[in-house]
Amino acid sequence: MPIEENKKSKVIREFSRFAKEYDNYNIIQSKVAKSLVDMLPIDNDSCIIDIGCGSGEVYKNLTKNRLFRGEFIAFDYSSEMLSIHPSSDNITKVCGDFNSVDIFDTLSYDNAIIVSSSALQWSEDLDLTLSLISQKASRVYLAIFTANTFKTLHQTAQISSPIYDIDILKKSISRYFDARFETKEYRLSFDNTRDMLRYIKRSGVSGGDKTLDYKQTKKLLEDYLLDYLEFEVLFIEAISLEK
Ligand SMILES: C[S@@+](CC[C@H](N)C(=O)[O-])C[C@H]1O[C@@H](n2cnc3c(N)ncnc32)[C@H](O)[C@@H]1O
Repeated sequence: MPIEENKKSKVIREFSRFAKEYDNYNIIQSKVAKSLVDMLPIDNDSCIIDIGCGSGEVYKNLTKNRLFRGEFIAFDYSSEMLSIHPSSDNITKVCGDFNSVDIFDTLSYDNAIIVSSSALQWSEDLDLTLSLISQKASRVYLAIFTANTFKTLHQTAQISSPIYDIDILKKSISRYFDARFETKEYRLSFDNTRDMLRYIKRSGVSGGDKTLDYKQTKKLLEDYLLDYLEFEVLFIEAISLEK
């Protein structure tokens, strides 16, 4: 592994490791991105910055369903994910960390709209990331997985979620934005526990340092009585209070 990659967080290394398979496991993220893009105003004079763009669900929905032709900045810390993001004359790819002040300084575009779908649950410092976003764009559209994702699974394992609680998310967002919130719940059914295990590992919904290891997860699924996984996503339409 190149030294630079090794320095990145476990979340990023997991996304890079499974980048080529991501599109087979992003069933819920794909639905979330479509709903988020449906909320966006289409304005080809504005520049859209997609934070944690991954393999391009936002861009694909913008061009397929919304006929977007403007400037698009694809921002992600995993170079492997960026390499599978669509490329085009109107797309600039930026490899950067949304936990870092320095990299945000490079994101200066007039009339920018910031979008982020299924990524900011991995912010290590939510206040820092949201404050940086609020300084870069006045119009912001976010979809963030909440701690109620895998709720019954976590209760069964008696562990707390590694991602933010919905009240913490709302409180932090309200410090930097005048925001409108909507919560959506999703379920994903599985034929067997092996498929459920594989999904949890490869979808990027549970990644990170604080999650169960493979053996613990396998044991847990023996005690888990549901044949589906639960997801909760907070959708946010916001105007920056800082810009
Ligand atoms: C679940 S994927 C979502 C990708 C895409 N937005 C979608 O809707 O399918 C989360 C993405 O966030 C990126 N990511 C996670 N932490 C990041 C960070 N600190 N800085 C930039 N990108 C990050 C990952 O590399 C991954 O591509």
